[in-house]
Amino acid sequence: MDFFSEKEFLEFIYQKTGIHLQNHQLSTFREQVLIACKKFSYPSATAYLAALQTENNPEESDFLISAITVGETYFFRYPEQIDFLTQSWLVKQLEYKKNTFNKSLCIWSTGCSTGEEIYSLAILLDQHIPNIEHWSIKLFGTDINKFALEQASKGHYEARALRNVPDAIKEHYFDELNNQYRLKPFILKRVNFSCFNLNSPTLPLFYNKAISLDLIICNNVFIYFNEAIIKKIMLNFGRLLNTNGCLLLAPADITLAHKLAGGLSLKRHKMLSYFQSLIPEKNNLSLKTSAKIETLIPLPKNIKVSRPQKLESINKTINTFISEIKAAQKKGNCQLVLKLANEALSIYPKQVDFWQYKAQVLAHLGKIIEALQASTEAVKQESLSAYPFYFHAMLQLDNNNLSIALQFFRKALFLNWYFPECHFHLAQLLVRTNDKEKALKHFESALEMAKKYDSEKSLENEPEITYAKFIDILEYEILTIN
Ligand SMILES: C[S@@+](CC[C@H](N)C(=O)[O-])C[C@H]1O[C@@H](n2cnc3c(N)ncnc32)[C@H](O)[C@@H]1O
Repeated sequence: MDFFSEKEFLEFIYQKTGIHLQNHQLSTFREQVLIACKKFSYPSATAYLAALQTENNPEESDFLISAITVGETYFFRYPEQIDFLTQSWLVKQLEYKKNTFNKSLCIWSTGCSTGEEIYSLAILLDQHIPNIEHWSIKLFGTDINKFALEQASKGHYEARALRNVPDAIKEHYFDELNNQYRLKPFILKRVNFSCFNLNSPTLPLFYNKAISLDLIICNNVFIYFNEAIIKKIMLNFGRLLNTNGCLLLAPADITLAHKLAGGLSLKRHKMLSYFQSLIPEKNNLSLKTSAKIETLIPLPKNIKVSRPQKLESINKTINTFISEIKAAQKKGNCQLVLKLANEALSIYPKQVDFWQYKAQVLAHLGKIIEALQASTEAVKQESLSAYPFYFHAMLQLDNNNLSIALQFFRKALFLNWYFPECHFHLAQLLVRTNDKEKALKHFESALEMAKKYDSEKSLENEPEITYAKFIDILEYEILTIN
């Protein structure tokens, strides 16, 4: 390869992947290009490069990427990170999620290579979350190297990859076969892998589902990049993390990223440095005032309560039930909320609030079908309030009933046009059904409305997202819709 075509080649790699090859990597790179030319029958490096530039040759491109990336990784690689995750991060998350009545966690391992890092996380969560089956846990692993991802999806590992894994974990989570370790299916199926280039102008797919992340791990990836790219990626990480979210980087990456932190602040746990989203005072994890809890556990809005007309004492009893349910919510006692809602409904079967509480707690417990039944009742009782329709649409969405969800989002907006979250979710649904023109209108309406709120406040129905972040998400959606 002559000097000029090599320069052009390196520039192409940099533009595509953000990877800046160092001098000491060049001889291996030249060898790999020669191998590729032979393998794909190109007469020269220039011809191979021309084929790559057409973007029409995925095999050639995947070969190059796997040749220039190093996927060294193993289970439980950084004991300080494990200590932080189990002793600090997870403890706070569990407490916070319990208080906010939101049993979900969402984690992204980016540059995950063959998957050991994200599976280590899946194992840790399995060990430390009681009744994990009642939680909605989303674990994503992404990498630019498709061969590494294929390996990751299989979950088969050599003993070397398990050098830091205690025997008890090996026994519980792996099957051993001819000195090869295979992850058991129940852990394997908790992780989703997909190809994602950190240097691409888009954000990963799950961003479009407005999932905000509780944790991002990006170990040993920044070593490939220069400052401009690291800065861009850090900004995106800040955008994706929820208000209490953390970013973990390997020690070498921290050195590269600490001055480029964007919206994240550098923190310490013992000897470990990590990044955390800047938390508005009001969203502090340990904050548990009743006022806060009320906004964290969204109550049905705009409800026209059909109160019994004669007896003052019956009114009181409704209020008593409501206070008791709120107190149980505050303690995160789902079973008690359910019991009280059922008791209340046996006396006041037409009270929409109680159907709504019941639907919410059932959804929270992962009992979607029963939640749908309760929320159908709520909708029946309260035909003039938007919230039950919105809530019902969200449940239908969870259950993948897109056309019913669409219908209920529309009904909710018919009853209350001024409902930014509803516009947002409807717009996302319209994107999924390829109606981009209408989607754009709803994103724009949501944006216009969101701008009128205090930017540090949390959304009424999505307590982990501030209006500032919501605006950011909406602007991004509008920019990238086409
Ligand atoms: C050394 S491995 C790190 C594996 C794991 N995170 C760990 O530390 O144990 C680095 C990974 O970053 C991936 N990578 C490099 N450039 C990337 C890019 N632009 N987008 C996504 N992944 C990239 C490589 O394919 C490789 O699998």
